[in-house]
Amino acid sequence: MLNYREVWNVETLHATSLHSKPLLNKKKMIIIDGKKISAEIRQEIAADVVKIKEHGGKIPHLAAVLVGHDGGSETYVANKIKACEEIGFKSTLIRHEDSVSEQELLLSVKKLNEEPDIDGFIVQLPLPAHISEQKITEAIDHKKDVDGFHPVNVGRMVINLPCYISATPFGILTLFERYNIDTVGKNCVIIGRSNIVGTPMSILMSRKAKPGNATVTLCHSRTKNIAEITRSADIVIVAMGIPGFLSGDMVNEGAIVIDVGTTRVKSELTKSGWKLMGDVKFDEVAPKCSYITPVPGGVGPMTIVSLLRNTLLAAKREIYK
Ligand code: GUN
Repeated sequence: MLNYREVWNVETLHATSLHSKPLLNKKKMIIIDGKKISAEIRQEIAADVVKIKEHGGKIPHLAAVLVGHDGGSETYVANKIKACEEIGFKSTLIRHEDSVSEQELLLSVKKLNEEPDIDGFIVQLPLPAHISEQKITEAIDHKKDVDGFHPVNVGRMVINLPCYISATPFGILTLFERYNIDTVGKNCVIIGRSNIVGTPMSILMSRKAKPGNATVTLCHSRTKNIAEITRSADIVIVAMGIPGFLSGDMVNEGAIVIDVGTTRVKSELTKSGWKLMGDVKFDEVAPKCSYITPVPGGVGPMTIVSLLRNTLLAAKREIYK
């Protein structure tokens, strides 16, 4: 069994081989550190907020609407609010019970649309079954839609116009940027076609932009011979929500693997009684990769920071004047 330290040791051994006989004839593999990159970006945003305050500008203000008491949603929203406080943003949490009607929730959205001090807001998903997520999403003013879920933002993304890009795809693009990963002309295979990750990711990777300009294949539950397709990929982005879906025999030597999966599974080894599992069998896949994101500590930490970046863009009116 290969753990993170042993994987890093492969690189260490290779590095020492500059001055001695190579101990392992293996290519360098880099574990993408989303925690470190997200911390750097938070610092950059916090510095920007200090400058805004010095110049008497508008302090970015994010609001979050939370319906019900789902454990996962509670944690995500609490983390978003905490992140705002840490970097000097204003934040507002609006809570509704599970029993809230669609009309009441629409009214809450309308108030946030009209509140001039709020630069951007999100309605945490999923919503209870009696509320249409589509209706709520479409009711949000696209200029305040820092989640990038509104059809106007999605449409503008497709034709490469300034827009809010949703947090997970934005976070992955940032990782490519910060690690100087060249995506031009690469075969990029995306597994999963969700509105939030797989579909926007497929568009962003194929756009004439940087990062982008890749040749994209979008795989989903009805795709035949997925392993054959992933074996031909330079970049594999897995967003299925199936723990351990991508195994070692499914990737080519030197592939770049981005794991978006974050499934909570029971664990006797943690205090909380659960741990996060990605969609990639890390121990098998990592030794074949040139770059790979771990779970936790890869894509996950990038999502909140991307939301903060969108909120800053909203406060500065950089996307919509
Ligand atoms: N639920 C899971 N991810 C997200 C997200 O990025 N935004 C919102 N609003 N809800 C979510």
